[in-house]
Amino acid sequence: MAAWWQSAVIYQIYPRSFQDSDGDGIGDLKGILQRLDHLEALGVDAIWLSPVFPSPMADFGYDVSDYCDVDPLFGSLADLDKLIAEAHARKLRVILDFVPNHSSDQHPWFIESRSSRLSAKRDWYIWQDPAADGGPPNNWGSTFGGSAWDYDAATGQYFYHAFLKEQPDLNWRHPQVQAAMHDVLRFWMRRGVDGFRIDVLWHLMKDPQFRDNPVNPDWQPGMPDITRTLRTQSCDHPDILGIVEGLRNVADEFEDRVLIGELYRPLERLVDYYGPQGKGVHLPFNFHLMDVEWRARDLAELVQTYEGLLPEGAWPNWVLGNHDQPRIASRLGPEQARIAMMLLLTLRGTPTLYQGDELGLPDAIVAADQVRDPWALREPDANVGRDPQRSPMPWDGGTHSGFSSAKPWLPLVDHWRTLNVAVQEGDAGSMLALTRQLLKVRRSSQALSLGTYRLICAEGTLLVYERRWEEERKLIALNLGSEPVELRGIVPNRTRPCAGTHMPIETVAGDGLAANEGIVVDL
Ligand code: NOJ
Ligand code: MG
Repeated sequence: MAAWWQSAVIYQIYPRSFQDSDGDGIGDLKGILQRLDHLEALGVDAIWLSPVFPSPMADFGYDVSDYCDVDPLFGSLADLDKLIAEAHARKLRVILDFVPNHSSDQHPWFIESRSSRLSAKRDWYIWQDPAADGGPPNNWGSTFGGSAWDYDAATGQYFYHAFLKEQPDLNWRHPQVQAAMHDVLRFWMRRGVDGFRIDVLWHLMKDPQFRDNPVNPDWQPGMPDITRTLRTQSCDHPDILGIVEGLRNVADEFEDRVLIGELYRPLERLVDYYGPQGKGVHLPFNFHLMDVEWRARDLAELVQTYEGLLPEGAWPNWVLGNHDQPRIASRLGPEQARIAMMLLLTLRGTPTLYQGDELGLPDAIVAADQVRDPWALREPDANVGRDPQRSPMPWDGGTHSGFSSAKPWLPLVDHWRTLNVAVQEGDAGSMLALTRQLLKVRRSSQALSLGTYRLICAEGTLLVYERRWEEERKLIALNLGSEPVELRGIVPNRTRPCAGTHMPIETVAGDGLAANEGIVVDL
């Protein structure tokens, strides 16, 4: 029998921007609780919450100062317990964000580690002597720009941080670090959490000899600083798979939990994270839909390559957006965002939706004085800002779109007065209506949720494939372009789609697809 996370649809909540309940302009746990109706009506199966743990918020929660509590900004541990219970009562699973690569520099572990070279926790983090000239130990760069090494004058060594200097990397080669982090997973699983999304999983293991990264010959001014070198030594060391196996063993101490790895890796390497003998993460996040050329051939090839690389027993997954990436509706335009949603929800594998994508939200326009993302603040000219996709959810036409009674921490998207949940609920042709319909059809279809995938046609702007489970067959036909396409001979005439981008569905499939049209039909 399939595990729950195979047929599930996961919905990512960015808690700061979902719903504010206490009028501070920042979303919180009670806010999420108030909006569970939306998720139930949408028809998703699991929610993944970006970090809600105590944090100085240098990287908005991805700098954790206590792995086993909740930041007062978001509420309390009791609020989280309540959210888990209420979600479970509605058959929604809860996935937390686990940030093992680095802690906050305010975490007691790091404070102890930096206190002295002789501290018992010195080696819980990555400390190195200066190079001969007194500079950083090697050329490893921080993802957010500049050197990844910060000098601690008091103890005369550098510590490594793959992100901000407020996010020192933990030393995963240390057995005590592994044990402590395993206990964090157990702490949350005992509280009923159904799984974890694991932050920057490929970063956990680095070259133990700290050799330089090779210089990137293609780097040009204007490109993000981190792309100056190729990160072949500073992350994704082969030993990572042993660490992943350790995490998996902990998850397997409990029933029915899922581990999802954040992995920006080429497909050939990504699939290694399923682990030898399936002892890896259940779902290594597959982000490749976010950068593939939006053409039928390229999409078909991506699916085929991925499917071909999957190890035996491995279950695929697809992602179209998250809090780090530009919105799909801005990348492809509002019409193709509908096609993209249909693709995401009909491909073989577990889909993850990012909050707001069910409304077709574009990136928000964030003026220079509204920028909050630490990366954007450090590299204002590199076009790396992540605020636009973190704009608050627009719920209705009221004050601050129903998100908060106070001015939100980031600006709302343009056109929130028409793009919001309330307006779209009343519109049978809205993106929200389409997403709900697709989720409904998917849920009631074995072929769509668990069936096989077979490519039928990828030509020009037309992509057609079949999903099949025993006798049930569904055909998906997508027009990726803005001109009508012929379907003759591919879809039997006079078939009524069970889902379509052009709603309400009045047309009878068979002859062709209109511009930007997609349909799902029963065969
Ligand atoms: C990936 C997270 O998604 C991103 O938001 C964060 O800045 C980095 N990891 C560092 O934790
Ligand atoms: Mg709040």
